[in-house]
Amino acid sequence: MLLTLPGLIDPHVHMREPGQTHKEDWRSGTAAALAGGFTCVLAMPNTRPPLVDIPSLEAAEDCARKKALCDYGLFIGAGADNLETAAPLAPKTAGLKMYLDRTFGPLQLKNKAAITAHMANWPAAKPIVVHAEGRKIAMAIQIAARLKRSLHIAHVSRKEEILLIKAAKEKGLAVTCEVTPHHLFLTKEDIPRIGPGRSEVRPRLAEKSDQAALWENLAVIDCFATDHAPHTKAEKDGEDPPPGFPGLETALPLLLGAVHEGRLTMEDLLQRMHDNPKRIFSLPEQLVTMIQVDVDARWTVRGEYLKTQCAWTPFEGMSLRGRVIQVDLRGTTVYEAPDVIVEPGFGRNISTGSLAPDPVKPIPM
Ligand code: NCD
Ligand code: ZN
Repeated sequence: MLLTLPGLIDPHVHMREPGQTHKEDWRSGTAAALAGGFTCVLAMPNTRPPLVDIPSLEAAEDCARKKALCDYGLFIGAGADNLETAAPLAPKTAGLKMYLDRTFGPLQLKNKAAITAHMANWPAAKPIVVHAEGRKIAMAIQIAARLKRSLHIAHVSRKEEILLIKAAKEKGLAVTCEVTPHHLFLTKEDIPRIGPGRSEVRPRLAEKSDQAALWENLAVIDCFATDHAPHTKAEKDGEDPPPGFPGLETALPLLLGAVHEGRLTMEDLLQRMHDNPKRIFSLPEQLVTMIQVDVDARWTVRGEYLKTQCAWTPFEGMSLRGRVIQVDLRGTTVYEAPDVIVEPGFGRNISTGSLAPDPVKPIPM
């Protein structure tokens, strides 16, 4: 059966450019997005250099403008050195990303005063996304609540975390959250199959009981976000493997499988992969934008056939259901499986560019 759905929105991806194009670049990363049914991705600031000021933001925007195949936004990173200078850049960004825990890249905010200053300075109309794990989630929620500002919690993975967020929502606090497909579909028990280096990811794969708590509290989960974080096979299999999984091309089929099994409704899926990210991140409407999905098509995941440059996946060999057949973005067909049929540079920045459909081009005489 062919279904026409809205273009999906992924509020958490890592495009690796500038600085680490051996892992991914804006072209390969957004080709993976289109193949996965995403027409808009919001990119994290832990590039090299990290996006923390005007020159780094402009350098990233330059790469994205030339190479992106789908629409995009850029997060700026909260550092110890841009407490005052980040906020004026808000209109050029999708939001502020605060790292309270250590992960890939140098960005980490260690002290409470810096966290508070960033939250106080950042404009209320633009989102703040926080990478916080365990009790640090409680701290971040508390600071945001005191400042009466909204907060979005990235990649929630543990039972105690989802219950904490549930309690905050019940108190009426302006807290939203996202969960990744890998935390919904994988646990520590999958580590031997995936391999020790390849299964490194932040937050780490969790217990079965954590996974069950995420599914039981689906109502608390606002968005499904891939946290697409490609690293090469050599890096993942080498010494000191960096954390991160690619995820753009497997997210929709995994979740459609859950719809098929009755663990989730199609409406639940579209709320979390389109409606809620659009609302939480105040994204403009992508007019004349839709994806066509063959919801019954079965296929076996093979890293080597994915469009992500890293060419591996923690879901290797799994049989998934659902394939994206066609993607239309702003009135133009940009993807016809298995090919991207638009030139790099078609994607627009949702924070700075107009998202009206492209005017119909006159036919040359
Ligand atoms: C991310 C990366 O590689 O950039 N890694 C990860 O394990 N998720 C960083 C992050 O989102 O924590
Ligand atoms: Zn991430």
